[in-house]
Amino acid sequence: MDDVFDPQTASQQDRFLKDVLDGLAKPKKTLPCQYFYDEAGSNLFEQITELPEYYPMRTEIGILNTQAEAIASALGPRALLVEYGAGASTKTRILLDALQDPAGYVPIDVSEDFLLQTADTLKTEYPDLAVHPIAADFMVELGLPVDIDGTPVGFFPGSTIGNLSDDEIDQFLRAARRLLRSGSKFVIGVDLRKSPDILVPAYDDAQGVTAAFNMNLLERINRELGANFDLEAFEHQAIWNDEASRIEMHLRSLKPQSVKIGGTEIKFDADETIHTENSRKFDLEKFVALIGATGWTLRKDWRDDRDFFSVLLLEADD
Ligand SMILES: C[S@@+](CC[C@H](N)C(=O)[O-])C[C@H]1O[C@@H](n2cnc3c(N)ncnc32)[C@H](O)[C@@H]1O
Repeated sequence: MDDVFDPQTASQQDRFLKDVLDGLAKPKKTLPCQYFYDEAGSNLFEQITELPEYYPMRTEIGILNTQAEAIASALGPRALLVEYGAGASTKTRILLDALQDPAGYVPIDVSEDFLLQTADTLKTEYPDLAVHPIAADFMVELGLPVDIDGTPVGFFPGSTIGNLSDDEIDQFLRAARRLLRSGSKFVIGVDLRKSPDILVPAYDDAQGVTAAFNMNLLERINRELGANFDLEAFEHQAIWNDEASRIEMHLRSLKPQSVKIGGTEIKFDADETIHTENSRKFDLEKFVALIGATGWTLRKDWRDDRDFFSVLLLEADD
């Protein structure tokens, strides 16, 4: 009898192998974008955020700095800040500095080593703050630490929500609503529609850092799953899909080739791509329609003066 794959008991490596093989078995090959973020990937993402072409980081930080007091007042005293996909927690510091007597900080991220290092740095910078990192996929049902009091409030910056499909956004926001409880607030950063002349370079920079970030996924599969991807035989692509309102990242096979992963052979045609990430660019009306049934209501929409990016305040329905 074949072994049955049980996601509850499978090791991280088994799950990674299964997700990779499932994605590459599809007629249009794909890989889940959360696997970008091992330690190397998280460090590359930090380099991306400093690139001249990568407007989202600077723009969102500008909005958070300008609106810090308004956000802190909306979140109220003794907030227990729960951050989804925390990364380097750069933007978190703006909120922590503005919040009135914050009760604690719970960063959630799949990139475990990077998460733990960041949490340690924060504990040194904010010695009175209870910091409780959770290394997990934010799409699964999670619990909050029982030893920290305070009012749970959510923070999901970086337009990471733009990596999710409609169904995933629905699932994610419903789970967040259950975790954060009624009356809670949720601050979410969303990137807005704009000219492809600005969007494409943000995901295909002149220095090739985003290309290295995308290619790191194949390097990680080689490193952790013993695969034999020839890194010279694939190239990074960033494409604007206007109809779906998203930047798509792909890895294009430069020739017909086959790759071995854990005893399975995967064939690639020349020019065939692996679709590695979507970064959706929202229009507010559509976003509001999307969150309509998830238990959250839009209360505020803070923007930069070019309407490039929006920091939204949602409130949990009772
Ligand atoms: C686009 S980066 C944003 C980082 C940071 N929040 C910011 O605004 O600069 C996405 C972050 O989410 C994490 N991440 C992506 N998918 C995840 C998932 N399914 N569960 C938990 N963390 C995830 C990544 O490891 C990474 O740190």
